[in-house]
Amino acid sequence: MRINKDETLTIALSKGRMQEQSLELFARAGILVDEEELHSRKLLLRSRDGRFNFVFVKPGDVPTYVEYGVADAGICGRDVLLESGADVHEPLDLRLGRCRIAVAGKREVLGKDYNLLATVRVATKYPKIATDYFHARGVPIEVIPLSGSVELAPLLGLSDRIVDLVETGRTLQENGLEVIDVITESTARLIVNRASFHLKMEQVGWMIEALTNEVYKSDTL
Ligand code: PRP
Repeated sequence: MRINKDETLTIALSKGRMQEQSLELFARAGILVDEEELHSRKLLLRSRDGRFNFVFVKPGDVPTYVEYGVADAGICGRDVLLESGADVHEPLDLRLGRCRIAVAGKREVLGKDYNLLATVRVATKYPKIATDYFHARGVPIEVIPLSGSVELAPLLGLSDRIVDLVETGRTLQENGLEVIDVITESTARLIVNRASFHLKMEQVGWMIEALTNEVYKSDTL
């Protein structure tokens, strides 16, 4: 196998709340992009040293870009990764964007037995995670797929429960909802395409090491 040391790595980053934090992490690891370009609306940026291309995509699409190899690596939340079921390497927890994926509902349904509902209607952006969770408990559900403002669903009578991200808990609280059960924790993960992991071993290994050093730096200060 021939490894090209000068090979460029393409990195898929989530547009939105995690974009800035991800680029900051790369910058601390010495992988910089031009300040001017950062504030543009370009969807593809090249690092100053030309060794990395960053592409900005919808959070839910990051695992797809990486699994299919159009990006060698990417950063996405564990929530997105679990939902996608993508077959990728996950070498590093970046400890960013910490939140929980939880089942929530109106305060008055807290503690109510699921058996009282023939089929539980669950509104969510995470149909797979929700289905896996309820099926593992033998509770039949009807998934109501939504792409945002999920907390509205129980308020308007669209669903009995929601499965959604909880970060500060403010959105739930201000809409009279409470966490019923935490399904799992989520943080941002570095993911790597399985073929790139081997074929671009040198560049990928260097990147993982540089990012790992940054992530764990605060532990040794
Ligand atoms: C996410 C999530 C919750 C909210 C939780 O939504 O779906 O609605 O953040 O955050 P909190 O616990 O800090 O209040 P997002 O902001 O991504 O918007 P969306 O509703 O359009 O998905």
